[in-house]
Amino acid sequence: MDFPSFYMDHLAGGRLIIGIIASLHVLINHPLAVGAYPLLTWMEWWAHKNNRPDIDQLAHRITFIVFIVTTTVGAMTGVGIWLSTSLFAPFAIGSLLRVFFWGWFTEWLVFISEVVLICWWFLSWKKVDTPEKKKKHIRIGMALSIMSWLTMALIVAVLGFMMKPGVWNQTRAFIDAMTNPLYAPQLGFRTFFALMTAAVFIWFTAFFFTKKSSARDDRPQRLRRWIVYRMSHVVLVSMLGVFLFGTWYWNCVPETMKANSSVALLTQEFMSWHGQFQTLLGWTVASFVFIALVGLSDIITVPRWALLIPSIMGIWMLGHFERAREFMRKPWVIGEYMYSNGIHKDELAYLQSEGILKHATYVKHREVTEANKVECGQDVFMLACSRCHSTTGLNSVLDKFSAMYGADKPWDSAGMALFIKGMHQTRTFMPPFPGNEKEAGALVAYIQQLRARPETLHGAQTEGITIAPPIKAPAMTAETQPQR
Ligand code: HEC
Repeated sequence: MDFPSFYMDHLAGGRLIIGIIASLHVLINHPLAVGAYPLLTWMEWWAHKNNRPDIDQLAHRITFIVFIVTTTVGAMTGVGIWLSTSLFAPFAIGSLLRVFFWGWFTEWLVFISEVVLICWWFLSWKKVDTPEKKKKHIRIGMALSIMSWLTMALIVAVLGFMMKPGVWNQTRAFIDAMTNPLYAPQLGFRTFFALMTAAVFIWFTAFFFTKKSSARDDRPQRLRRWIVYRMSHVVLVSMLGVFLFGTWYWNCVPETMKANSSVALLTQEFMSWHGQFQTLLGWTVASFVFIALVGLSDIITVPRWALLIPSIMGIWMLGHFERAREFMRKPWVIGEYMYSNGIHKDELAYLQSEGILKHATYVKHREVTEANKVECGQDVFMLACSRCHSTTGLNSVLDKFSAMYGADKPWDSAGMALFIKGMHQTRTFMPPFPGNEKEAGALVAYIQQLRARPETLHGAQTEGITIAPPIKAPAMTAETQPQR
C-alpha cells in the first residue's frame, strides 16, 4: 500500500522471479555449500590420516566445482533474493529486516567470513606440503563448514517465522521471532537434507572424475567404489534425519496451512494428479535408497551412469519442496500478521469499511465514481491481487474467472463482486478482500473490461507513479471540535 507496485505481467506479477532465484539459491546452498563443505573436509582429513593422495586430489577437484559455483551463481542468487523481494514485496522484506535486524547483521558477518574461508581453503590447498600445514588446512575446512551452516541457521529462523511467528505476535520480541515454533524442526530437517543431497552430489561428481577402468588399471573403479560406499552411509543416515525432523516439522505447521498442501503441491488444476505425484516422490526416495544399498554391498559396483539419476531426482525434489512451502504459507507473508499483498491483519477491518484507495499512497483516485470506475478497479487489482495474479500472463485473473464461470458465457458482475468479497472464505489461500463495497464493484468493472479488451497491465517501473491528493478532512467546526 505504501510502495509503488513493481509488476511484470508475464511473470505472474513478478513472484516467479523470486521463485526462480530463490530455488536456484537453495539448490546451490544446500548440496554445494552447507552439505558439501563438511563432507569434503572429512574426505581431506581421511585422505591425510590414511595417506591416500588420490582421495585428497578428488576432494580438491570437487572443491574446485563448489568454489566456482558458490562464489558466482550462489552469491549472485543470494543477492538476487534481496533485489527481487525488495522490488516485489518491499512491505514484507522491510518488516522482516526490522524484526530480524541483529540476526541479519550477524548473518552478513558470517557470510563474509564464509566467502573469505572458501577462497583461503581452496586457493591454499595445493600449497600445503607438510603434515603440519595439512592439519591447519583441514581446520580451515572445518571453520568454513561451521560458518556455512551458521548462515543457514540464521536465515532458517526467518523462513520459519514467516510461516508461524508464534508468541512474537504478542510480544514482538526479537528472541521470540528467532525461536519461532518451526525453527528447530526446520533447521534439523534442512541440515540433514543438505548432507543427503551433498552426498548425492558427490556421487554425481564421481561420474565425471572416475573414468572407465581399463584391464591394466582398475584405480578409477576402486576410487569410485570408495566414494559410493562412503557417501552411501551419509545418504542413508541423513535420510533418517530428514524423515524424523520432517515429521516433526510437518506436525508444527499450522493446520490451516496444511489444508493448502494439495493445492500447494500441484495447483488446483492438477490436484487430481496427486497419485502420480506421490509415485514420483516415491521413485525419488527409492533411487536414493537403491543406489545407497547397492553402494554398501561389496558384490556389485554401481555403474557410472546410475550415479546421475539420484541427482536429477534430487534437483526436482528440492525445487518442489521450496515451492510447496512457499505456497502453503498463503494467504500470509508473515503468519497471522501480514497478508501476501502487504495488508496488515489489524488494518483489514478498517480498510474494508473505509476503502483502500483512500489510504493507499500510489493511486489515481481516492473515491470510486461511475466515470473513474475502471481506473479505480485497476488500482484495486494492483493493491489487492497483483502479488499473486496477473491480468493476462501466468496465473491470470481472467483465466481464473473463466475456469469458474466459463470462457464463453457471460460473467455476472454481481456474482463476481460477491465472490471477491467472500474469496477468503471459499479459497482460504487467498487473503480477504481489503476494500469496501464500491471498490469491489470497481474491481469487477476492471476485470470485465479486461475480458472485453485484454490488456497487459504495466507496473510502476514503466508507468511511473500517480498520487491522488488526499481527501480533505472536513473543516473543524464548533460541533466537531473535541470537547475539553
Ligand atoms: C496470496 C495470493 C493471492 C491473492 C492476493 C489473490 N489470489 Fe486469487 N488465487 C490465488 C491462488 C493460489 C489461486 C488458485 C490458483 C490455482 O491453483 O489455480 C487463486 C484463485 C483465484 C480464483 C479462482 C478460484 C477458483 O475457485 O477457481 C479467482 C477468481 C481469484 N483467485 C481471484 C482473485 C482476485 C480478484 C484477487 C484480488 C482481489 C485475488 N484472487 C487475490 C492466490 C491469490
